[in-house]
Amino acid sequence: MKRVVLAFSGGRGTMAALHILKRRFGRNVITFTANLGQRSSTEGLCERAIELGASSAHIADLREPFLRDYVWPALRAGAVCSTGYALAHALARPLIVKELVRIAKEEGASCIAHGCAAKSNDQVRFEISAAALAPELKVLSPLREANLLRQDEVVRYCRQHRLPTEVDECRFSITENLYGASVQWDRAPDPFANVPEDVYRQTAPIAATPDEPSELQISFKEGLPTALDGEVLPPVQLVERLKTVAGTHGVGRLTTVEDRLIGIKMVEVYEQPAATALHRARQALERLVLSKDLLDFKEKVSARYAAMTYEGFWFSELRAALDGFVASSSRFVTGDVRLSFFRGNCEVKGVRSIYSLYSQGLADPSAEGDRLTHQAVQGFVETLKQPLRSSTRTPHR
Ligand code: ARG
Repeated sequence: MKRVVLAFSGGRGTMAALHILKRRFGRNVITFTANLGQRSSTEGLCERAIELGASSAHIADLREPFLRDYVWPALRAGAVCSTGYALAHALARPLIVKELVRIAKEEGASCIAHGCAAKSNDQVRFEISAAALAPELKVLSPLREANLLRQDEVVRYCRQHRLPTEVDECRFSITENLYGASVQWDRAPDPFANVPEDVYRQTAPIAATPDEPSELQISFKEGLPTALDGEVLPPVQLVERLKTVAGTHGVGRLTTVEDRLIGIKMVEVYEQPAATALHRARQALERLVLSKDLLDFKEKVSARYAAMTYEGFWFSELRAALDGFVASSSRFVTGDVRLSFFRGNCEVKGVRSIYSLYSQGLADPSAEGDRLTHQAVQGFVETLKQPLRSSTRTPHR
């Protein structure tokens, strides 16, 4: 029997995928489940996979490598989509594929498989990541192959085959990790309508947030967060604590219309409390320590980095090369940022760095003994007007 390694979250799509691979295509299915800090427990998922016919089931706590090797580089690069989406969901896909590939090699499987929906970005990310890491492996999309393209068809399939029933009662499913959560709707919502409160996992509604703000100091070393309120913390604890504090104050909700890779506009709902706090703090620190040129140029790098991550090209030469730029330009991104969280807002209260380019003396409007003379300023302002003349040019005689 041909072996296949299936990414198994225990959600409806992956259960149907497992069932199809096993019953319809007679495959020997090995499942892999990643614990990335999702609230829905991964407990019992291996047993469930075996019950559904898997020959073996792997599970791994990948929170630490997820943060260290995927979230941290993207954070340092400032990779956020123009919508504000900090890519928590997208960043987890290359890691999952990497694990699938590793297990496939270990177990002598010739294929890996996923339970992604037909309009999903993830199917693209799976295929592209797999092609980059192990072009010899085939990527199977059992739902596509069984023609279960619509969600209602997947639900019907699950019912028909008596796959665990809790799966057909919800109107949406949540994919979550400790860096953020995203919603997959069963029916496309009206972009003008309110988002139902029960989709949220990581953030409180404003009405339920505390009456007093919380303050927190994040320390960075070379562009990466290292401590909260002076306490050095390993990545998982740091992000968990930020997620709790920011989430309690309702920070990090985002509803937007997004252009999916297959070319369809979709309503996307994200929660990203930890990501929001981290990006805001990093950006404030960069403004203090990076030169204007670097800040300008980095904006382009950030946008490109985000696009590549979104589009599935995590394992690409370009991203590796950009990482070089990001590492080099982050050498002085070391310092502390004070944040305040209140009623859905995350505000930068203060920033300091031993590499600060800010000179109070230079910036001071009342500095004594200033070498900036009135004539110098006037001359400078005159030269600024030069480009304006180009629009009212008269030909030279
Ligand atoms: N649009 C998001 C992304 O491409 C995630 C979509 C939500 N999907 C989900 N299964 N929760 O990263």
